[in-house]
Amino acid sequence: MADTTLMDKLVSLCKRRGFIFQSSEIYGGLGSVWDYGPLGVELKKNVKDRWWHAMVHARDDIEGLDAAILMHPKVWEASGHVAGFTDPLVDCRHCKNRFRADDPRIKGTPGQPDAQCPVCGSKGTLTEPRLFNLMFKTFMGPVEEQAAVVYLRPETAQGIYVNYINVLNSSRQKVPFGIAQIGKAFRNEITPGNFIFRTREFEQMEMQFFVKPGTDEEWFERWRGWRMEWCQGLGLTPGRLRFHRHGPDELAHYAKDAFDIQYEFPFGWQEIEGVHNRTDFDLGRHQQYSGKKLEYFDQAANQRYIPYIVETSAGADRVTLTLMVDAYREEIVEGETRVVLGFHPALAPIKAGVFPLVKKDGMPELATEVYHALKRRFPVFYDDSGAIGRRYRRMDEAGTPFCVTIDGETVANRTVTVRHRDSMAQDRIGVDQLETYLREQLGA
Ligand code: GAP
Repeated sequence: MADTTLMDKLVSLCKRRGFIFQSSEIYGGLGSVWDYGPLGVELKKNVKDRWWHAMVHARDDIEGLDAAILMHPKVWEASGHVAGFTDPLVDCRHCKNRFRADDPRIKGTPGQPDAQCPVCGSKGTLTEPRLFNLMFKTFMGPVEEQAAVVYLRPETAQGIYVNYINVLNSSRQKVPFGIAQIGKAFRNEITPGNFIFRTREFEQMEMQFFVKPGTDEEWFERWRGWRMEWCQGLGLTPGRLRFHRHGPDELAHYAKDAFDIQYEFPFGWQEIEGVHNRTDFDLGRHQQYSGKKLEYFDQAANQRYIPYIVETSAGADRVTLTLMVDAYREEIVEGETRVVLGFHPALAPIKAGVFPLVKKDGMPELATEVYHALKRRFPVFYDDSGAIGRRYRRMDEAGTPFCVTIDGETVANRTVTVRHRDSMAQDRIGVDQLETYLREQLGA
């Protein structure tokens, strides 16, 4: 049974604790666009850093790239996005709302008198489905004319394809090799929603792996396994991740085979990452549209070919949402509800809270000393306001795995208590051992 109230609670916690805010909220918000607050930006950065480490730093066969969002408009003709990146939509002539033609809330057949608008309830006011391109357009240069139309990229992948020869020529890579990129993408989604699950501006973490034709299926299988391992390594609940293979009617225009890695959200099983066998479709089309040779000369095989591409494409915002949904729990402790975000310590935005038990007897001075020492190593948070129990609860909601309390004993013998978020157990540690202790606990 879907727990839709969990999403409401999460949205409210995200605002309260500074993870995520509605964009332009003081103006009433902008539809399905969100801003990351102090804790959210750290959490998402931890996701991106972990991905970058696994894909670029920990491997010898992948290079990084940061291509521009704006690209030559022909890129999107070649990629098939101008012609094919569309959703069939219907408009209500009465209330002016727009829906996907397959919106399950529509009763009857759009365009026919029996069709009923799911928003205003009018009958016979829905238009026939029309194709609507999801790319955002803008204009380059001072004159708003057709010739100057450029698009905000709907995927980061194309920036990699058009740079593949540049990377190949400037690095020591040979096929098989990959190029990884993290960056913003934009889609004028018609049915966005579920908080940051489907938004109009989002970040992708994409990797394109260039392989010899004929070896694509084995590389596809390898990447499918590696990407699932990475998702599992985020500490998500076992059993809430699965593969979904695309049927022929689901495959994107470029794909020969595709698997989604899905997570079980409160609103059902949904994709968090796609692994696609894009064949030589993209490079072949860019070669055709640009007139530039994009073949690779394979010295070992003494052969020229356009490499096949295995793509792994994850959403940084979607993975961040997944972590928050998975981590959220409520417990009754001493008759009160405790809300916890039980993040994997390596992903938590703040690693430790530092608290003087009371604001006297030398405790604030010692706590400040401990705080500054730890701050050189980890993101830590100093808090001396309110009862200690309330300070613990605030850190539980922020997902902080440890709280360090400076008390009377610290003043006497330079030891502190370290309280563990999940078990609430407390250890007493010497101030001198604290950094090493936390580093071990965090695996940092
Ligand atoms: N280059 C291939 C590609 O873009 P996709 O399945 O359309 O494939 C890949 O997108 C990933 O990007 C998705 O698994 C999802 O995590 C993320 N994504 C796509 N559209 C999104 C949106 N509107 N809001 C948030 N994330 C999105």
